[in-house]
Amino acid sequence: MKRILVAHDGSRQSEKALKEAIRLATSFGASLTVISVVPELYLTEITDIDRENLSELLIAETKSLMNRVKTSLKGKKIRQKFLIRQGSPADRIIDTAIKQKTDLIVTGSYGRHGAKRFLMGSVSSKIVDHAPCSVLVVK
Ligand SMILES: Nc1ncnc2c1ncn2[C@@H]1O[C@H](COP(=O)(O)OP(=O)(O)OP(=O)(O)O)[C@@H](O)[C@H]1O
Ligand SMILES: [Mg+2]
Repeated sequence: MKRILVAHDGSRQSEKALKEAIRLATSFGASLTVISVVPELYLTEITDIDRENLSELLIAETKSLMNRVKTSLKGKKIRQKFLIRQGSPADRIIDTAIKQKTDLIVTGSYGRHGAKRFLMGSVSSKIVDHAPCSVLVVK
């Protein structure tokens, strides 16, 4: 296993996924790419200006999340890469996995919405369905 891709949405569960991915990358000597996708806003109720402001806010939030992740990986002997993408989270994560020839995608079982749900989140289930490689869904 050479390349691991971990999907981070800032949730507690994706933080758990990151820890697991770090553990695996360390023991396999694999590289680790952390990806966070800023979701496209489809709200029809708001004006274009509000949409732009909100979008900028989400991008800023994602950048600061990535900086926190970078800090937590500092000093670890893992080849690492950090990506911020925009659009449909599952689609962007799958595109990236194909492009980078990822061997394993790591996600949380749920994300920012559904801590109490029985079912897995929609992003992680879409990844499991369409990924070009194995997927580890961390519970
Ligand atoms: N925008 C995102 N960028 C990167 N990874 C994400 C993103 N959204 C979700 N993920 C990954 O998918 C995992 C599951 O989150 P998911 O979004 O599927 O569940 P949820 O937020 O609880 O429910 P919902 O289906 O309503 O979004 C997260 O722990 C994270 O690993
Ligand atoms: Mg979600």
